[in-house]
Amino acid sequence: MVPSDADPRRIAEGRLVVASHNAGKVREIGELLAPFGLDVVSAAALDLPEPEETEPDFAGNARLKAVAAATASGLPALADDSGLVVEALGGAPGIHSARWAEGDGGRDFMRAMTRVWEELEARSAPEPRRAHFVCALALAWPDGATRVFEGRVHGRIVWPPRGNHGFGYDPIFLPEGESRTFGEMPPEEKHAMSHRARAFAKLLESGLVG
Ligand code: IMP
Repeated sequence: MVPSDADPRRIAEGRLVVASHNAGKVREIGELLAPFGLDVVSAAALDLPEPEETEPDFAGNARLKAVAAATASGLPALADDSGLVVEALGGAPGIHSARWAEGDGGRDFMRAMTRVWEELEARSAPEPRRAHFVCALALAWPDGATRVFEGRVHGRIVWPPRGNHGFGYDPIFLPEGESRTFGEMPPEEKHAMSHRARAFAKLLESGLVG
């Protein structure tokens, strides 16, 4: 149901907190929301604490981050949580996607991609090695109400990694029906079909912002 202008939940003007301490994410979300006249402010700028991500799924963790920011700031808040789900690995790395890249020298996605490949080889997983990216976007209001929008893009894991675009697991993810990995696609092509773009499209379709 598309809310009317009178919908009390509609965020049409004023400040919206982006519940992330990742400057790149805050900038990207700010750019997406700029046409709607929303003044985006980051959780870091408001000095809000970063809650621990204790939920078992993307939607739960996005919701937890958005609620924490909205209740602490008294402003509506938007949070996202995303990752790569590999079917033959029982859904791993999933909500631990960022963690698989962590090691002594900081984050290293070559390490994370190699682990995905090695675990698939160890299980002799048959081709195609199906996987999907998920992005959950949660909107929370200061009274604790929430809405979550989820976007997915399906594809398969390839080895060796291909391309220098994007980030994270992009070089080993071949989207369905494509001959190039996300790592080989120019950013605008990836952004037209990505899990994040699909979650945002659902948020905008809801009529709750803008
Ligand atoms: P988050 O910042 O806790 O949501 O972590 C998301 C993690 O999932 C990132 O660090 C990447 O490892 C992975 N990820 C999410 N979206 C993408 C994508 O579009 N391409 C590649 N990796 C992604």
